[in-house]
Amino acid sequence: MTSLRESFQLKPSLVICGAFDGLTARLVERGGFDGVWASGFCISASKGEPDANVLTINELVDRVAEMAKCVSIPIIVDCDEGYGDIQSTIRLVKELAEIGVQAVCIEDNCFPKLNSFLADVARRLVPVQTHCERIRAVKEAVPEMMVIARTEAIIAGLSVDHGVARGKAYGDAGADLVLIHSRYTELDQFRELAAKWDGRYPLVVVPTLATSLDCRDFADVGYRMVIFANQVLRVCVLGAETMLGQLRETGSQKAILPNLTSLEHIFELTGLTANGAGSLRKDRDAAACVPESSGVPVY
Ligand code: SPV
Ligand code: MG
Repeated sequence: MTSLRESFQLKPSLVICGAFDGLTARLVERGGFDGVWASGFCISASKGEPDANVLTINELVDRVAEMAKCVSIPIIVDCDEGYGDIQSTIRLVKELAEIGVQAVCIEDNCFPKLNSFLADVARRLVPVQTHCERIRAVKEAVPEMMVIARTEAIIAGLSVDHGVARGKAYGDAGADLVLIHSRYTELDQFRELAAKWDGRYPLVVVPTLATSLDCRDFADVGYRMVIFANQVLRVCVLGAETMLGQLRETGSQKAILPNLTSLEHIFELTGLTANGAGSLRKDRDAAACVPESSGVPVY
């Protein structure tokens, strides 16, 4: 597997896509992306929970472990504001390192964080020094872990200059990459932000609302990593809702058939073959079903 650090040496800009479980992570890998974003928003949503700091460390680590077993591309884990105080963040990052995670993203929201795209929310950030201390502590505890320091300054209504100043402070504190998050939609906005950046630390962008732009646009104006954070979740939800409506309305699979992937494709994605898991199961069942007296299988 090419590590995230190596990929940075090899490519001018990396393209990462969000996932929320083992199967979706595998789909991202097969889609040819440079890495998987273990999205806090999407993992929470997949559990029917809001993106509001309601998951426990164990829930996050368990889910990421599931994803890690399914892919060999790098996983970047969205650690929200760090899951509590610095000790908790260190514990989380150590556990993620143990399961092979190569990068974490930690943001400067106060607990409890709320998804960055939720409207009409009064947002508070931790002091710059508090976030710097957290970054320093993580790098000291797990030096090999890449840290994306994320500032929510612009999301919280503060100026671009303030966001840039926070980003620089986080880089100086040891972050490997910096994400100055925004709800920008236009390339000029991303360009203006990047122009204020001095380029010492690579910039990351999560262009959720910039639906008319593509990865090359971001690379051209200076971003080294583009994260499409939640599109897999959103296509799954829309696909399921549309199908359920049609199925309920018509009572038949005719209308939904063009949108159903084949059973064989799911078997292939999950490694189910007649000679593999299938035959093992048959052997096990056969062994379990042979009555000792007759020796004749009864299945
Ligand atoms: C996530 O995917 O959980 C993120 C990115 O933090 S976003 O929701 O787009 O802010
Ligand atoms: Mg998140």
